[in-house]
Amino acid sequence: MTRTIITNSPEETIEAAAEIGRLLGKGDIITYKGDLGAGKTTFTRGLALGIGLGDVVTSPTFALVNEYIGENINLYHFDMYRITSEWDLESCGFYDYDFTNNIAAVEWSENIEKYLMGKIINITINALDEHKREITLEGDERFASAWN
Ligand SMILES: Nc1ncnc2c1ncn2[C@@H]1O[C@H](COP(=O)(O)OP(=O)(O)OP(=O)(O)O)[C@@H](O)[C@H]1O
Ligand SMILES: [Mg+2]
Repeated sequence: MTRTIITNSPEETIEAAAEIGRLLGKGDIITYKGDLGAGKTTFTRGLALGIGLGDVVTSPTFALVNEYIGENINLYHFDMYRITSEWDLESCGFYDYDFTNNIAAVEWSENIEKYLMGKIINITINALDEHKREITLEGDERFASAWN
């Protein structure tokens, strides 16, 4: 199913994302489509808030992931801009992460989509102007009443 919302500020995007974050669970994988500066990282901060997680920590071992760590669940935020093959994925430590018991959000997932294991929810962000964003979610029935 598809849901769409227009936001007019980063704060509104964070709020919209938090609503989605509250509906997420273990094994979910958010994939993003959207240009540089569209708001993917901003949306991810909102997801973390909705999941009930605090501030981001940068992984010491893998420069392409930021981790939001909780007591029962973590959110792993990957930036795959420079990753183009399964070999890249393996060599950068991607497979050391536990996707089954946590949540992942993946920017620039186009190249690695077929290697992602989990329930995929896609978020597309279009910049309509400097502050306006059209955000579209494609996911399952869980999200039916989101962004009403
Ligand atoms: N409605 C909006 N929602 C989200 N961000 C907005 C909005 N309006 C303006 N912005 C600005 O757009 C930028 C979004 O940056 P962000 O890092 O989230 O994008 P990104 O898609 O992750 O980019 P990149 O591909 O470079 O990682 C920020 O500077 C933010 O302040
Ligand atoms: Mg980003």
